[in-house]
Amino acid sequence: MTKQDLVAFAHKLPKAELHLHIEGSLEPEMMFALARRNNVDLPFKTLEEVRNAYAFSNLQDFLDIYYQGMSVLQTEEDFFDLTMAYLNRVRADNVRHAEIFFDPQGHTERGVPFDTAISGILTALQMARAQFGMTAKLIMCFLRHLPEEDAFTTLRQAEPWLDRIEAVGLDSSEVGHPPSKFERVFAAARESGLKLVAHAGEEGPPEYVREALDLLKIDRLDHGNRSLEDEALTARLREEQMTLTVCPLSNLKLCVVDDMTAHPLKRMLDLGLKATVNSDDPAYFGGYVMDNFAAVIAALNLDAEDIRTLARNSFEGAFLSGGEKRAQLAAIDAVLP
Ligand code: HPA
Ligand code: ZN
Repeated sequence: MTKQDLVAFAHKLPKAELHLHIEGSLEPEMMFALARRNNVDLPFKTLEEVRNAYAFSNLQDFLDIYYQGMSVLQTEEDFFDLTMAYLNRVRADNVRHAEIFFDPQGHTERGVPFDTAISGILTALQMARAQFGMTAKLIMCFLRHLPEEDAFTTLRQAEPWLDRIEAVGLDSSEVGHPPSKFERVFAAARESGLKLVAHAGEEGPPEYVREALDLLKIDRLDHGNRSLEDEALTARLREEQMTLTVCPLSNLKLCVVDDMTAHPLKRMLDLGLKATVNSDDPAYFGGYVMDNFAAVIAALNLDAEDIRTLARNSFEGAFLSGGEKRAQLAAIDAVLP
């Protein structure tokens, strides 16, 4: 198959997106529109100035811009519009299910109530389900550069919403903020019946991935790239069939890889790791799920079975019921290359 045929095949396959920060789907056009609607001053005057600012040399460069961008999100309607725009966009990529991160502390820190953010997001998730049958789950992330005590405050704010939150996650500046810092609040979240995920091994060392497994007891690993530096850890991830939510364009933009041809996705699949393809922060990193598939297909030696495996992995690693997974997997198996 040509690379073009592989991209067409990837497009046809039903897919789940498991690593998407909803605040990272804020496109510059919407950023300007919401800034105007809410009278927020932005340091950019034109779309071109925004695009020029999106040149990052590491995770922190990006995070500084990302937190600044989310300042335009103020009302429930803003969160609804943001979420609806993402869901409509990835519907065109044949994403049938999305497990969406949000960063409540990025909003409560600025005086936007927890309930405002989550209400707007949840209304959009319900509407997408009713209007076009896309399913979605919500993952509440703790910002790891803040103290664990603040994460506990966030968990308390989430109490009235626990039946509508699937999992907790851990994101923001990785190096210097190891998973061990959040062991107690993850245990409390587990007690509350929530699933657990964490970013680890994006910039941080393999030891952070071990901590996420052993101390946080995660159900799924976000990124995980640097696990490959440690053979025993790699073997363990394979044996445990731990899902890795890999984000190729993010890795390129944040200089986790120097070049897409050096991306470890194909190596992960060949090692038997349960890798998936995701967009992370599509408005900042150059595209949505299908843009990520197109980028890895262009740069790596992936074949049609690799592409099918990536789509299957996205549902096997999702927090869906057995029946829901079986239906999606059967639909994937019915698509011919
Ligand atoms: N890494 C860590 N924190 C984040 C990211 C990421 O890629 N995106 C949004 N918050
Ligand atoms: Zn992420």
